This record gives sequence, C-alpha cells and structure tokens, in this order.
Amino acid sequence: MATQRTFSIIKPDATRRNLTGAINAKIEEAGLRIVGQKRIHMTKAQAEAFYAVHAERPFYNDLVSFMISGPVVVQVLEGENAVAAYRQVMGATNPADADEGTIRKAFAESIEANSVHGSDSDENAGIEINHFFTEDEIVG
Ligand code: CMP
Repeated sequence: MATQRTFSIIKPDATRRNLTGAINAKIEEAGLRIVGQKRIHMTKAQAEAFYAVHAERPFYNDLVSFMISGPVVVQVLEGENAVAAYRQVMGATNPADADEGTIRKAFAESIEANSVHGSDSDENAGIEINHFFTEDEIVG
C-alpha cells in the first residue's frame, strides 16, 4: 500500500481536557505524519454537512450539538496505509470496546464524546479533507 492520507478530528471533549498534544503523540508514535492541522470552532452548518451520512440516525442531533460545543482540531494525516493505521490507533468507536493503548481507550469519555474521528475509507478521506482543507494548507 502506497502513502495515503486520512482525515482526523480531535473532538471537543479532548480539546476541553487539553489532550491535543497527548493525542498527537500517539498519532506520531504510530508513524503517521500530521501534514495539515488547524484548530477551529465548527459552525452548526459545517457539523451537519460533515455528518450528513448519519442524518437519519437517532444520535444525529446530539452528535451535531456535541461537535459544536467547543473547539476541535481538524487534521490531515499521511503515512503507509493511513486510513487503516489511524483506525487502529483510534480504537473502537465505543471506548468500552477499545483495545489497550488506543486513543479512545486512553481518553474517550463515551461513545459520543470519543475524543477523535477518523475516515473509514480512502474515498471518504478525500471527501472529508476537502470539507476543511485547501491543498495549499497541506504540507507533506
Ligand atoms: P465518528 O467516527 O465521529 O462518527 C460518527 C460519530 O457518531 C461516532 O464517531 C460517535 O462519536 C457518534 N455516535 C454517537 N452515538 C453513536 C452510536 N450509538 N453509534 C455510533 N456512533 C455514535
């Protein structure tokens, strides 16, 4: 597998607890490079558009409210097999199911306040990166 990019969000529960550096350390220890990064406060429209795929799910409104409850750090990560590599570092969506050593096992508070988001496919990584980054903001 060649070098690939994935999209990451450090969520409001993590920025509130000052965990950006600790999460970035786990990302870098896993061999992923942070080639784009900015701290933003998502608008409601941005959060709704980003999670549109979940619009029919019962947790959608709460998820959108949570994602705009504080600042987030949006990131582009680059490395070998980056989509799968980052999903492994993040751990399972529900921290109760996450393996030892993963970001969610270490830091997540709940299935909603689960500290990080990562793309689930190469195609979605491209789409998600384009939601928040222009090509000149990504420096490999
Ligand atoms: P994320 O990877 O950002 O993608 C969708 C998010 O919905 C997910 O992480 C969870 O934080 C959140 N979520 C909240 N409730 C649920 C649920 N019951 N099942 C799956 N995801 C949920």
